[in-house]
Amino acid sequence: MDAEHLAVILATTLVLLGSSKHYTADAENRHVFLDWEVSYAVRSPLGVARRVITIDGRLPGPLLNLTTNDVAHINVVNTLDEPFLLTWNGLQMRRNSWNDGVAGTNCAISPTENWTYVFQAKDEVGSFFYRPSLGLHAAAGGHGPIRVNNRPVIAVPFAQPDSEFDVLIGDWYNMDVKEMRGYLDRGRDLPSPDGILINGLGPYAADFTFQPGRTYRLRVSNVGTRTSLSFRIQGHKLLLVEAEGTYTRQKHYASLDVHPGQSLSVLVTADQLPKPSYYMVVSSLFVEPELFGVANVLYAGSGGLQPPGAAPLEDLSSHNGYNRSMEQARTVRMNLTCGAARPNPQGSFRYGRINMSRTLLLRNDEAEIGGRRRCTVNGVSFAGAATPLKLADHFDLAGVFAVVSGRPERRRQPSLGTAVIDARYRDFVQIVFENRVPSLQTWHLDGYNFFVAGMGWGKWSPDARSTYNLVDAIYRSTVQVYPSAWTAVLVSLDNEGMWNLRSQSLDRRYLGQEIYMRVSQGSSEVPDPRDELPMPPNALLCGKAKSSKIGRA
Ligand SMILES: *[C@@H]1O[C@H](CO)[C@@H](O)[C@H](O)[C@H]1NC(C)=O
Ligand SMILES: *[C@@H]1O[C@H](CO)[C@@H](O)[C@H](O)[C@H]1NC(C)=O
Ligand SMILES: *[C@@H]1O[C@H](CO)[C@@H](O)[C@H](O)[C@H]1NC(C)=O
Ligand SMILES: *[C@@H]1O[C@H](CO)[C@@H](O)[C@H](O)[C@H]1NC(C)=O
Ligand SMILES: *[C@@H]1O[C@H](CO)[C@@H](O)[C@H](O)[C@H]1NC(C)=O
Repeated sequence: MDAEHLAVILATTLVLLGSSKHYTADAENRHVFLDWEVSYAVRSPLGVARRVITIDGRLPGPLLNLTTNDVAHINVVNTLDEPFLLTWNGLQMRRNSWNDGVAGTNCAISPTENWTYVFQAKDEVGSFFYRPSLGLHAAAGGHGPIRVNNRPVIAVPFAQPDSEFDVLIGDWYNMDVKEMRGYLDRGRDLPSPDGILINGLGPYAADFTFQPGRTYRLRVSNVGTRTSLSFRIQGHKLLLVEAEGTYTRQKHYASLDVHPGQSLSVLVTADQLPKPSYYMVVSSLFVEPELFGVANVLYAGSGGLQPPGAAPLEDLSSHNGYNRSMEQARTVRMNLTCGAARPNPQGSFRYGRINMSRTLLLRNDEAEIGGRRRCTVNGVSFAGAATPLKLADHFDLAGVFAVVSGRPERRRQPSLGTAVIDARYRDFVQIVFENRVPSLQTWHLDGYNFFVAGMGWGKWSPDARSTYNLVDAIYRSTVQVYPSAWTAVLVSLDNEGMWNLRSQSLDRRYLGQEIYMRVSQGSSEVPDPRDELPMPPNALLCGKAKSSKIGRA
């Protein structure tokens, strides 16, 4: 290393006391180095002690605070007694499904071992979260917020808020994950959750302090097991500004729906006469009985707290049924004129004018397979493989996964399978999700955002295109599909790799509601590193790839 290079690293290395976080910079990008210890702990947010998963002893785990184009190096140390992986929900992981952290791309980190994820937040901004990806680990916590901040040279389409809060909300079970697995393995549905947490805390336990007159950005994510939630702050309006990396048309709401796995940002101005405090209320949607999570919003200097129960929570819930929820969803749109990660306007990619090369139709349902209730996608219930599909593909190992058409097949008996849809790099594809079961679904695609072009009741047909929003549809990575309804999304396949398409309901995914999409150029040539990064030098090998050599196939 020459002296000049060393000086740059020394000058930009910052070691924070008491943590192993530090930064270096190369000629182009900042590198962020983190060590995260994953461990069990006991917490009782609802008064019942249960085993949870923490990151560095915390639940929620530490904020992953990046700026566009930062390269993150996250050394995850697994002290659990089970294999473990984290995934980066909503980050695009450009050219790098190698670091996506799902069972189809990565060998798990074994107990007592560690592994370093390396990925770049390339050309993105926004609010996301990380969570465990194996089994039902995520129902035990292990999650934390991710922010990707704008580079200083790129304008943000609103006045800089005075401060920001990460608000992770989710349903919560008092039972251990093993017991939850027991229900599902015996073919039974999970019972209702026991409550709703805000930043890992039970009702009235979390506090958010506002200075009168100031404006705050709240980055809200639903990190729960399976319940759709409605978010509001008593007496305050929510100005929606961002959803999963896209700046929205700014619009005021009294409450906003946040479905499992979704993230959004709202601006809240502390413009109320200081009562002692206000409630932040998170209520469950579409389930009986209604559940409430509550936190306190305090005005600095106002003194005192509104006692629990001072206002009936029922009056602070949205009572949205499916129809009103769908109406609200249609109002969440992209701001076409502002730039996001790059200066060019978000609307400059005129997705409505691009011809679709293909329509995938993914119908989720339930079926009894081998005497057990399973969730299916086009009749196939996903069965995990001992060899990550990405490695099987890379090393040409046969018999690990089966390529499927991406359309429902007549006369197919529901069965288990390790299904992969083959897709061509740079195609522009429509994915239609059709929901055949009486509960709301949320679907998430790793590696991408998609344009949420349309939603409707009943069965989808090609004529539905006349109802699509082909101008300013929101561009996000997790979308809801209402019961007996469909949602159509459009996606530009500009990111090579093996990408997980999954239900964000942890129980449904556990029961097989997921699939992978292999986006490739279809030739047997080694991918150009400008299209896909080479296998990382630290890649873990397992299953049929255990004795393969890292690097080229
Ligand atoms: C996150 O990073 C940005 C940019 O480096 C910095 O300004 C901000 O203070 C950081 N926020 C937190 C909570 O660390
Ligand atoms: C495991 O952690 C050690 C010590 O921090 C580090 O040197 C090593 O690179 C890590 N291993 C992997 C595979 O990331
Ligand atoms: C929702 O709207 C659909 C179509 O407009 C209608 O058929 C259905 O009855 C409505 N459901 C409820 C619960 O209002
Ligand atoms: C869209 O973004 C621009 C900044 O480019 C901003 O001035 C405008 O208020 C935004 N419009 C809406 C409806 O959010
Ligand atoms: C889309 O398809 C139409 C009709 O097939 C064709 O005329 C048009 O040129 C195509 N547009 C693009 C951008 O490829």
